[in-house]
Amino acid sequence: MTHEQGVSGMFGRIAPRYVLLNRLMSFGMDASWRRQVVRWAGLRPGCLVLDVGTGTGDIALEALRFEPSIKVIGADFTAEMMREGRKRPGGGRILWCRAHALTLPFPEAVFDAVTSGFLVRNVSDPLKTFQEQVRVVKPGGWVVCLDTSPPPRNLLRPLVVFHLKAVIPALGTLVARDRAAYRYLPASTQAFLPPKRLARIMSDAGLEEVSFRSFMLGTIAVLRGRRPPSLEVSH
Ligand SMILES: C[S@@+](CC[C@H](N)C(=O)[O-])C[C@H]1O[C@@H](n2cnc3c(N)ncnc32)[C@H](O)[C@@H]1O
Repeated sequence: MTHEQGVSGMFGRIAPRYVLLNRLMSFGMDASWRRQVVRWAGLRPGCLVLDVGTGTGDIALEALRFEPSIKVIGADFTAEMMREGRKRPGGGRILWCRAHALTLPFPEAVFDAVTSGFLVRNVSDPLKTFQEQVRVVKPGGWVVCLDTSPPPRNLLRPLVVFHLKAVIPALGTLVARDRAAYRYLPASTQAFLPPKRLARIMSDAGLEEVSFRSFMLGTIAVLRGRRPPSLEVSH
């Protein structure tokens, strides 16, 4: 089984409980991080947005609430997650698309903004993932990424590690009846890149003005960068 098949199989299993578990694990804070993603995406009336690894569509739905006139494509390789998302209020307004984040099925420079939430931690090649997003966003458009960060080394670290290692697997067992999946989440969080390194990868992928904000005791980060505007041709 490839890494991707393993990831997709896991999200397929937890799809029906995914939204509820997110709310519980984040103490209801996850909606505010997604609002930050949307605020940073620079959405204008009527624009076209791509949300990669959309899952059950939380960021896409938040974008539609923020600016109802936009069109949002939600792309993911796990059909079960998108099936759950389609049933949610407003889910019918998202244009759902089965797609792999490393080979997006879209032409170059078609989207005004590209977002992702908790995707990059799961992919085999973060640099290629951002390069694909840079390819499909228009010059001057924002690429915004929400993901977990490894717990910072400070006084509160034991509390954060307890939440990751004990609380989240217990919730996963109780609510999703899938302890394995909710062991993967904390393990991949601890093994993931700190925001400064993720920001560096975004720059390496070709984004400019890369910056980030951390939340939840430094365990969550929202990052963004802009595809350089095309060079003006002087005559
Ligand atoms: C943790 S969920 C996040 C869902 C949603 N973005 C959110 O904010 O709640 C990660 C999603 O990314 C998708 N995913 C992971 N790797 C992917 C890849 N290589 N291509 C497309 N989707 C992928 C999974 O299927 C899953 O639905």
